[in-house]
Amino acid sequence: MSQNTNIFPKEFQLMRDYIEESCGIHITHEKIYLMETRLTTLMIECGCESFFELYKKSQEDKTLKIRDRIIDAMTTNETLWFRDESPFAIMEEVVLDQMKERLLSGKQQKVRIWCAASSTGQEPFSLSIVIHEYLQKNHSLRKDQFEILATDISPTVLYLAMAGRYDHIAITRGLSDRLKERYFKRNNRVWELDSTIKNMVRFKKFNLQDEFAILGTQDIVFCRNVLIYFSDAFKKDVLKRISRVLRPQGYLFLGASESLINYSSDYDMLRDSRGLFYQVK
Ligand SMILES: C[S@@+](CC[C@H](N)C(=O)[O-])C[C@H]1O[C@@H](n2cnc3c(N)ncnc32)[C@H](O)[C@@H]1O
Repeated sequence: MSQNTNIFPKEFQLMRDYIEESCGIHITHEKIYLMETRLTTLMIECGCESFFELYKKSQEDKTLKIRDRIIDAMTTNETLWFRDESPFAIMEEVVLDQMKERLLSGKQQKVRIWCAASSTGQEPFSLSIVIHEYLQKNHSLRKDQFEILATDISPTVLYLAMAGRYDHIAITRGLSDRLKERYFKRNNRVWELDSTIKNMVRFKKFNLQDEFAILGTQDIVFCRNVLIYFSDAFKKDVLKRISRVLRPQGYLFLGASESLINYSSDYDMLRDSRGLFYQVK
C-alpha cells in the first residue's frame, strides 16, 4: 500500500486503466488521492471493501450503472459564466458577423454550435445569451437559425444543466448584474434561467470517445477545459475528430490554458486582440 493512501498499487493501476478505457480521463500516480477521495463513498455504497472489489463489481454489472457512477465521480465539473471572457467576445464581435453573412447570402441555412463538455450549462447558456443579444441588434436573423448542442459524459451535470437553475454561488461566478437581472428570475434561494435562453440549447449525454458523426456537421466547436484531463494520444484523437465534423473554415475554441501545439496541425491559429481561437484548414 502506498503512503497516505488505502489503495494498493495493483488496484490503483486496474482502476486507473478502467477509467481511462471508459472515458479517456488519465489519472497519474500523483493523483491517487483524487481517486481515493472520489470513489470511497461509492465503494462503500456498493457494499465493497476495496477498490479491487468495486472494479470487479463494475465489470460484472451488465447494466453499466456502476461504471457510469465511477465515471461521474471522476469527472471534474468546474465551470463558470463567460469563462475566460475572450471566446464569448470573439464570438460576438467576429464569428457571428461572419455567420450572419453566410446566413443572409443563403450559403447556409443554420449555424450549428457544439459545446463538447458543457458541465452544468454555464458555457452553452453563456453562448445562447451572446446569440440572443446579437439577434436583438440584428433583426434580419432569426433565433431558429442557430442551434446549440451541449454534451457531457456526466449525467449529474447534465441534469443540473437541463434544469437551468443555479444557486447563489454559481450565479455570481462570471455573470454581470445586468445579465443576471435580465435573464434570471429569483425564486427563494434559486436563480432560474429565462426559458428563451434555456430553450436555445439542446443537451445530450455523450462520451468524447464515441463517434462524432452522429452529432452532425458543426460550424463552431467549444471544447474547453476538458482535453487537459486526457492522455496526449487521446487529445490528438479528439482534435482530429473535431476537425472532421467541422465545416470547412469552422471554428474551434479551447480553454485558456490549452493549446494545439504538439497535438494537431489541422487548424490555423487565429490571434485576436482578445485571445486565441482556431480555424480548421
Ligand atoms: C472542467 S469541466 C469544463 C466545462 C466547460 N467546458 C468550461 O470550460 O467551463 C470538464 C467537463 O468535461 C466532462 N468530460 C470529461 N470527460 C469526458 C468525456 N470523455 N466525454 C465527454 N465529457 C467529458 C466532465 O464531465 C466535465 O463536466
